[in-house]
Amino acid sequence: MNNFQFYSSTEFVFGKDQESKAGALVKKHGGSRVLIHFGGGSVIKSGLLDRVKKSLDESGIFYLELGGVKPNPRDTLVYEGIKICRENNIDFILAVGGGSTIDSAKSIAMGVPYDGDFWDFYCGKAQIQAALKVATILTIAAAGSEGSPDAVITQESTGLKRGAGSDLIRPAFSILNPALTCTLPAYQTACGATDIIAHVFERYFTNTTEVEITDRLCEAVISTMIKETPRVIADPNNYDARANIMWAGCVAHTNIVGVGREQDWNSHGIEHELSGLYDVAHGAGLAVIMPAWMEFVMSHNVMRFAQMATRIFGLPMNFENPEATAKEGIRAFRRFLREIGMPINFEELGAKEEDIPVLVEKFGLNGGKTGGFVALSSEDIASIYKIAAHASL
Ligand code: NZQ
Ligand code: ZN
Repeated sequence: MNNFQFYSSTEFVFGKDQESKAGALVKKHGGSRVLIHFGGGSVIKSGLLDRVKKSLDESGIFYLELGGVKPNPRDTLVYEGIKICRENNIDFILAVGGGSTIDSAKSIAMGVPYDGDFWDFYCGKAQIQAALKVATILTIAAAGSEGSPDAVITQESTGLKRGAGSDLIRPAFSILNPALTCTLPAYQTACGATDIIAHVFERYFTNTTEVEITDRLCEAVISTMIKETPRVIADPNNYDARANIMWAGCVAHTNIVGVGREQDWNSHGIEHELSGLYDVAHGAGLAVIMPAWMEFVMSHNVMRFAQMATRIFGLPMNFENPEATAKEGIRAFRRFLREIGMPINFEELGAKEEDIPVLVEKFGLNGGKTGGFVALSSEDIASIYKIAAHASL
């Protein structure tokens, strides 16, 4: 196991009706002038926004609202948010929604105290030195942004989708009420589940040895997702299954399952070009990319893939032919993705094979990661897109 430092400063408040504590929690964490940030309207429709405003009113907290965050959040709304915060002396951003809303909120938070363009943090020109406090009320188990130090934004003019990170943008608190996720359409639920699983696999496939504790934690989180996701798809109001998924999503990305080991993250980089170019859901893109990446890199460590097959998918080990077990594991992963309604190839996702050179070029422009489990060349990336384009069960 490698040396590590693990710092998670977020206060997690989990369970039914916990959004009623929003006002008290903002106060506790030092906020007095709040920007409530939300997406395209699901929080208005569900009545959540009204409940949050009531809670802030009861605590005597001043607030303004900024809605309109789109999935794959854009820089344009971030600039608007920064302007509103500066003009109104906002000191706290409360994101009510999913990963897109939270990431937009984090970007506003890092942009307000910065003299330059907040995009500098995304293109590597500057490091985050200060940020307003951010907190979240989560409505979808997926990105894990409620417990992560990261944010991902798409630049509207170029379609470039990039990430930035700092412990300074870890949420001060995150309210996780699984009941809020019951209104999610099955497709969004499945996209979220895929993202959660992918966050764990990005950490699971490692060259670091002797990491039994994090291996077992990773396997527990993914096994939970494999059990609970079909349950919520069949019965969207199953609170207990929703609760297990919501906590799994958070655990998957606070990095507690990934400490002390080298991680990969190539599948995420390769996927971001798909959601950047076609504006498809990140989880759906991962469903197409991750098994293709697995097929491409499997020979690098067949036994690790066989471990996935046996411990996570419960397949028997073929001791004479571990490669067969490893392949069967990847097949089982794709079957699971199909079972929960995810696309598994380009056509089903709405991507085009002829765009592969563009995708590869954008990956390069974004400084796409090429280390991790297996270092990938541009040709390798193109091969992975090609496998993804034609994948079948
Ligand atoms: O906008 P509204 O109307 O709220 O609708 C949203 C949106 O259309 C809807 N939704 C959310 N909660 C709902 C609901 N609909 C009904 N009932 C509810 N309770 O779901 C749609 C998707 O929302 P979004 O916030 O985009 O989903 P998600 O949480 O999957 O976030 C995806 C974004 O997070 C980034 C992705 O790249 C993508 O841009 N990621 C962020 C990470 C991070 N910050 O650490 C890591 C991830 O790997 C990921 O890259
Ligand atoms: Zn993700």
